[in-house]
Amino acid sequence: MSNQKFAFPEAEIAGVYRAIHQRRDMRHFKPGRIDTEILHKLLDAAHHAPSVGLMQPWRFIRITSDEMREAIYQLVQEERLLTADAMGEREAEFMRLKVEGIKQCSEVLIAGLCDHRERFIFGRRTLPEMDLASVACAIQNLWLAARAEGLGMGWVSIFDPVKLAKLLGMPEGAKPVAILCLGEVEEFYKSPMLVEEGWAKERPLSELMMENRWVDTE
Ligand SMILES: Cc1cc2nc3c(=O)[nH]c(=O)nc-3n(C[C@H](O)[C@H](O)[C@H](O)COP(=O)(O)O)c2cc1C
Repeated sequence: MSNQKFAFPEAEIAGVYRAIHQRRDMRHFKPGRIDTEILHKLLDAAHHAPSVGLMQPWRFIRITSDEMREAIYQLVQEERLLTADAMGEREAEFMRLKVEGIKQCSEVLIAGLCDHRERFIFGRRTLPEMDLASVACAIQNLWLAARAEGLGMGWVSIFDPVKLAKLLGMPEGAKPVAILCLGEVEEFYKSPMLVEEGWAKERPLSELMMENRWVDTE
Protein backbone atom coordinates (compact mmCIF):
# COMPACT_ATOMS: atom_id res chain seq x y z
CA MET A 1 0.00 0.00 0.00
CA SER A 2 1.54 3.29 -1.09
CA ASN A 3 1.25 6.19 1.32
CA GLN A 4 3.14 8.68 -0.82
CA LYS A 5 1.29 11.99 -1.04
CA PHE A 6 1.60 12.08 -4.83
CA ALA A 7 1.04 8.39 -5.53
CA PHE A 8 -1.73 7.31 -7.87
CA PRO A 9 -4.62 5.28 -6.46
CA GLU A 10 -3.68 1.60 -5.95
CA ALA A 11 -5.53 0.33 -9.03
CA GLU A 12 -3.80 2.87 -11.25
CA ILE A 13 -0.39 1.98 -9.85
CA ALA A 14 -1.17 -1.66 -10.57
CA GLY A 15 -2.16 -0.70 -14.12
CA VAL A 16 1.21 0.92 -14.77
CA TYR A 17 3.11 -2.15 -13.57
CA ARG A 18 0.76 -4.46 -15.44
CA ALA A 19 1.42 -2.67 -18.73
CA ILE A 20 5.16 -2.87 -18.07
CA HIS A 21 5.14 -6.58 -17.21
CA GLN A 22 2.63 -7.72 -19.82
CA ARG A 23 4.05 -5.69 -22.73
CA ARG A 24 5.52 -8.02 -25.32
CA ASP A 25 7.26 -7.55 -28.61
CA MET A 26 4.62 -8.94 -30.98
CA ARG A 27 5.11 -10.48 -34.41
CA HIS A 28 1.73 -12.20 -34.83
CA PHE A 29 -1.33 -10.05 -35.50
CA LYS A 30 -5.05 -10.43 -36.20
CA PRO A 31 -6.48 -8.73 -39.28
CA GLY A 32 -8.35 -5.49 -38.68
CA ARG A 33 -8.00 -1.76 -38.30
CA ILE A 34 -6.99 0.39 -35.37
CA ASP A 35 -9.49 3.06 -34.43
CA THR A 36 -8.13 6.46 -35.52
CA GLU A 37 -8.80 7.97 -32.13
CA ILE A 38 -6.83 5.20 -30.39
CA LEU A 39 -3.97 5.57 -32.85
CA HIS A 40 -3.88 9.27 -32.10
CA LYS A 41 -3.84 8.56 -28.35
CA LEU A 42 -0.91 6.18 -28.78
CA LEU A 43 1.07 8.70 -30.82
CA ASP A 44 0.24 11.39 -28.29
CA ALA A 45 1.58 9.10 -25.53
CA ALA A 46 4.78 8.72 -27.55
CA HIS A 47 4.98 12.47 -27.99
CA HIS A 48 4.82 12.97 -24.22
CA ALA A 49 8.10 11.13 -23.70
CA PRO A 50 11.06 12.82 -22.06
CA SER A 51 13.76 14.05 -24.42
CA VAL A 52 17.25 15.44 -23.97
CA GLY A 53 17.12 19.24 -23.68
CA LEU A 54 13.43 18.95 -24.71
CA MET A 55 14.72 18.25 -28.18
CA GLN A 56 11.75 16.07 -29.20
CA PRO A 57 13.88 14.43 -31.89
CA TRP A 58 11.23 11.85 -32.80
CA ARG A 59 9.44 11.89 -36.12
CA PHE A 60 6.72 9.38 -37.04
CA ILE A 61 5.76 8.38 -40.55
CA ARG A 62 2.48 6.51 -40.84
CA ILE A 63 2.55 4.07 -43.74
CA THR A 64 -0.83 3.96 -45.46
CA SER A 65 0.20 2.90 -48.96
CA ASP A 66 0.27 -0.84 -49.71
CA GLU A 67 3.15 -0.33 -52.15
CA MET A 68 5.21 1.43 -49.51
CA ARG A 69 4.46 -1.28 -46.94
CA GLU A 70 5.54 -3.92 -49.45
CA ALA A 71 8.77 -2.01 -50.23
CA ILE A 72 9.53 -1.76 -46.50
CA TYR A 73 8.84 -5.48 -46.10
CA GLN A 74 11.27 -6.24 -48.94
CA LEU A 75 13.99 -4.15 -47.29
CA VAL A 76 13.54 -6.12 -44.09
CA GLN A 77 13.72 -9.45 -45.95
CA GLU A 78 16.94 -8.32 -47.62
CA GLU A 79 18.53 -7.45 -44.29
CA ARG A 80 17.16 -10.59 -42.64
CA LEU A 81 19.20 -12.71 -45.05
CA LEU A 82 22.34 -10.64 -44.45
CA THR A 83 21.80 -10.89 -40.69
CA ALA A 84 21.34 -14.66 -40.95
CA ASP A 85 24.53 -14.89 -42.96
CA ALA A 86 26.41 -12.99 -40.23
CA MET A 87 25.08 -15.42 -37.58
CA GLY A 88 27.45 -18.22 -38.52
CA GLU A 89 26.36 -21.51 -36.97
CA ARG A 90 23.02 -20.05 -35.78
CA GLU A 91 22.01 -19.04 -39.33
CA ALA A 92 19.38 -21.75 -39.88
CA GLU A 93 17.99 -21.28 -36.37
CA PHE A 94 17.72 -17.52 -36.95
CA MET A 95 15.94 -18.03 -40.27
CA ARG A 96 13.27 -20.07 -38.47
CA LEU A 97 12.45 -17.17 -36.14
CA LYS A 98 9.62 -14.79 -36.91
CA VAL A 99 11.24 -11.38 -36.63
CA GLU A 100 8.48 -9.09 -37.92
CA GLY A 101 4.76 -8.89 -38.63
CA ILE A 102 4.84 -6.11 -41.23
CA LYS A 103 2.35 -7.71 -43.61
CA GLN A 104 -0.17 -8.85 -40.98
CA CYS A 105 -0.31 -5.84 -38.66
CA SER A 106 -2.95 -3.11 -38.90
CA GLU A 107 -0.59 -0.15 -38.83
CA VAL A 108 3.03 0.37 -39.76
CA LEU A 109 4.76 3.41 -38.30
CA ILE A 110 8.34 4.44 -38.91
CA ALA A 111 9.98 6.14 -35.96
CA GLY A 112 12.94 8.24 -36.89
CA LEU A 113 15.40 10.85 -35.74
CA CYS A 114 14.98 14.37 -37.12
CA ASP A 115 17.60 16.18 -39.18
CA HIS A 116 19.72 19.13 -37.89
CA ARG A 117 20.36 17.36 -34.58
CA GLU A 118 23.77 19.02 -34.36
CA ARG A 119 21.99 22.20 -33.25
CA PHE A 120 21.12 20.55 -29.96
CA ILE A 121 24.07 20.58 -27.54
CA PHE A 122 22.26 20.42 -24.16
CA GLY A 123 22.92 16.93 -22.78
CA ARG A 124 24.51 15.80 -26.04
CA ARG A 125 27.97 17.39 -26.09
CA THR A 126 29.59 14.26 -24.68
CA LEU A 127 26.69 11.89 -25.35
CA PRO A 128 25.29 12.68 -28.80
CA GLU A 129 23.36 9.39 -28.76
CA MET A 130 20.95 10.87 -26.20
CA ASP A 131 18.80 11.83 -29.20
CA LEU A 132 18.36 8.14 -29.94
CA ALA A 133 17.67 7.46 -26.26
CA SER A 134 14.88 10.07 -26.44
CA VAL A 135 13.28 8.41 -29.47
CA ALA A 136 13.48 5.08 -27.61
CA CYS A 137 11.60 6.67 -24.69
CA ALA A 138 8.86 7.76 -27.11
CA ILE A 139 8.64 4.29 -28.61
CA GLN A 140 8.41 2.72 -25.16
CA ASN A 141 5.55 5.09 -24.24
CA LEU A 142 3.72 4.00 -27.38
CA TRP A 143 4.41 0.34 -26.61
CA LEU A 144 3.06 0.55 -23.06
CA ALA A 145 0.02 2.61 -24.07
CA ALA A 146 -0.72 0.08 -26.82
CA ARG A 147 -0.51 -2.78 -24.32
CA ALA A 148 -2.93 -0.98 -22.00
CA GLU A 149 -5.32 -0.52 -24.95
CA GLY A 150 -5.04 -4.27 -25.68
CA LEU A 151 -2.97 -3.77 -28.83
CA GLY A 152 0.29 -5.47 -29.68
CA MET A 153 3.36 -3.77 -31.04
CA GLY A 154 6.52 -5.10 -32.61
CA TRP A 155 9.75 -3.17 -32.96
CA VAL A 156 11.61 -4.13 -36.12
CA SER A 157 15.19 -2.98 -36.54
CA ILE A 158 16.30 -5.42 -39.19
CA PHE A 159 16.77 -2.96 -42.07
CA ASP A 160 19.41 -0.80 -43.70
CA PRO A 161 18.69 2.73 -42.40
CA VAL A 162 20.25 4.38 -45.47
CA LYS A 163 17.99 2.44 -47.84
CA LEU A 164 14.89 3.02 -45.72
CA ALA A 165 15.66 6.74 -45.40
CA LYS A 166 15.93 6.96 -49.20
CA LEU A 167 12.68 5.04 -49.71
CA LEU A 168 10.86 7.42 -47.36
CA GLY A 169 12.43 10.55 -48.82
CA MET A 170 14.08 11.51 -45.55
CA PRO A 171 16.50 14.46 -45.67
CA GLU A 172 20.25 14.28 -45.03
CA GLY A 173 20.83 13.91 -41.26
CA ALA A 174 17.47 12.29 -40.50
CA LYS A 175 17.51 8.58 -39.73
CA PRO A 176 14.88 5.86 -39.38
CA VAL A 177 15.38 3.87 -36.19
CA ALA A 178 12.36 1.60 -35.95
CA ILE A 179 9.65 0.00 -38.02
CA LEU A 180 6.73 -0.32 -35.62
CA CYS A 181 4.02 -2.88 -36.30
CA LEU A 182 0.77 -2.32 -34.43
CA GLY A 183 -2.42 -4.28 -34.26
CA GLU A 184 -4.80 -6.57 -32.47
CA VAL A 185 -3.39 -9.93 -31.44
CA GLU A 186 -4.86 -13.37 -30.84
CA GLU A 187 -2.99 -13.41 -27.52
CA PHE A 188 0.09 -11.83 -25.98
CA TYR A 189 3.10 -14.13 -25.61
CA LYS A 190 3.50 -15.09 -21.95
CA SER A 191 7.25 -14.44 -22.11
CA PRO A 192 9.49 -12.90 -24.76
CA MET A 193 9.03 -14.83 -28.00
CA LEU A 194 12.80 -15.30 -28.23
CA VAL A 195 12.65 -17.12 -24.89
CA GLU A 196 9.61 -19.18 -25.94
CA GLU A 197 11.45 -20.15 -29.12
CA GLY A 198 14.61 -21.12 -27.22
CA TRP A 199 16.71 -18.44 -28.97
CA ALA A 200 17.70 -16.48 -25.87
CA LYS A 201 17.48 -16.56 -22.09
CA GLU A 202 16.49 -13.68 -19.86
CA ARG A 203 18.86 -12.74 -17.06
CA PRO A 204 17.53 -11.75 -13.63
CA LEU A 205 17.99 -8.20 -12.38
CA SER A 206 20.17 -9.47 -9.53
CA GLU A 207 22.85 -10.50 -12.05
CA LEU A 208 22.92 -7.03 -13.59
CA MET A 209 22.97 -4.94 -10.41
CA MET A 210 26.19 -3.63 -8.93
CA GLU A 211 27.14 -1.61 -5.92
CA ASN A 212 29.65 1.22 -6.01
CA ARG A 213 31.91 -0.39 -8.59
CA TRP A 214 31.67 -2.32 -11.82
CA VAL A 215 31.52 -6.09 -11.47
CA ASP A 216 32.01 -8.34 -14.46
CA THR A 217 28.60 -9.73 -15.45
CA GLU A 218 29.73 -11.96 -18.32
C1 LIG B 1 15.74 -1.53 -29.93
C2 LIG B 1 14.98 -2.80 -30.19
C3 LIG B 1 15.02 -3.38 -31.44
C4 LIG B 1 14.35 -4.58 -31.71
N1 LIG B 1 14.36 -5.13 -32.96
C5 LIG B 1 13.67 -6.27 -33.20
C6 LIG B 1 13.61 -6.83 -34.50
O1 LIG B 1 14.15 -6.33 -35.49
N2 LIG B 1 12.91 -7.97 -34.68
C7 LIG B 1 12.28 -8.58 -33.64
O2 LIG B 1 11.67 -9.63 -33.85
N3 LIG B 1 12.30 -8.06 -32.39
C8 LIG B 1 12.98 -6.92 -32.16
N4 LIG B 1 12.97 -6.38 -30.90
C9 LIG B 1 12.24 -7.04 -29.81
C10 LIG B 1 13.12 -7.82 -28.86
O3 LIG B 1 13.52 -9.02 -29.44
C11 LIG B 1 12.32 -8.05 -27.58
O4 LIG B 1 12.06 -6.83 -26.98
C12 LIG B 1 13.04 -8.95 -26.57
O5 LIG B 1 13.23 -10.22 -27.10
C13 LIG B 1 12.27 -9.04 -25.25
O6 LIG B 1 10.95 -9.47 -25.51
P1 LIG B 1 9.71 -8.63 -25.02
O7 LIG B 1 9.81 -7.28 -25.70
O8 LIG B 1 8.50 -9.39 -25.46
O9 LIG B 1 9.81 -8.50 -23.53
C14 LIG B 1 13.63 -5.20 -30.65
C15 LIG B 1 13.58 -4.58 -29.38
C16 LIG B 1 14.24 -3.40 -29.17
C17 LIG B 1 14.15 -2.76 -27.81
